[in-house]
Amino acid sequence: MTDERNAIEIAGSADHRFMWLGAGDPETEKGIASNQYAIVAGGEALLLDPGGYHSFERVFANVAGLVEPKKITGVFLSHQDPDVVGSLVSWLEVQPSMKIYVSGLWERFLPHFALPALPDFVAIPDEGSSVTLADGAQLRFVPAHGLHSPGNFALYDERTRVLFSGDLGAALVPPGEWSMFVGDFEKHCGYMDGFHRRFLASTKALRAFLEQIRGVPIDFVCPQHGSIFRGEDVQRFFDWLAELEVGFDHRDWGKPR
Ligand SMILES: [Fe+2]
Ligand SMILES: [Fe+2]
Repeated sequence: MTDERNAIEIAGSADHRFMWLGAGDPETEKGIASNQYAIVAGGEALLLDPGGYHSFERVFANVAGLVEPKKITGVFLSHQDPDVVGSLVSWLEVQPSMKIYVSGLWERFLPHFALPALPDFVAIPDEGSSVTLADGAQLRFVPAHGLHSPGNFALYDERTRVLFSGDLGAALVPPGEWSMFVGDFEKHCGYMDGFHRRFLASTKALRAFLEQIRGVPIDFVCPQHGSIFRGEDVQRFFDWLAELEVGFDHRDWGKPR
């Protein structure tokens, strides 16, 4: 039986693996349940949205089972929220020289998380950029501004065809109903709907993002909250987004739900 606290490979091969880093224990990990991921390639690991302060112990144990801590060479932050960034000081204590890939908008704000002096920020420009991993594979930082942060990026791994979507695709699944992959898609939409309508800024921003990824081969969509989309659920998810009215464009914005 699979232990949900442990890391699981989502896609890849022996030398390039896209990993999910285990489910948090709600008794000990406070705050919204969040997914953390790592791309392990060429013997190095890049963390994707490493999580809040309370998730560090679990995430570190799972990454340390994949590579030596000194081989954790980078961290990608989709945006600036505490559930994304709250563990960053702990990670920098493990690996002070790691690169921190984040929107250039947020570089000046992150030191308020009590970061040590001069972390190695790599500011991602508004139009996006890419990085080459130790195995030569390319990662693309895809602009997703307004979904929900004003400086917000998704990440596309061309080798595994995984899109890490940050808060896009987030689902607030009731306790006891969560599964790593989406099961009943229609039911899952009910867990995504309220979050997307309230947290995404505008329908225009959402359509602009969908336009950017049109034609890109994507086998998995991995969000920061909820379940992973695979197979036919990937296109179902994009079709669902294409019909959605969100943020200030939605007639019910701000109403309690
Ligand atoms: Fe967020
Ligand atoms: Fe989040």
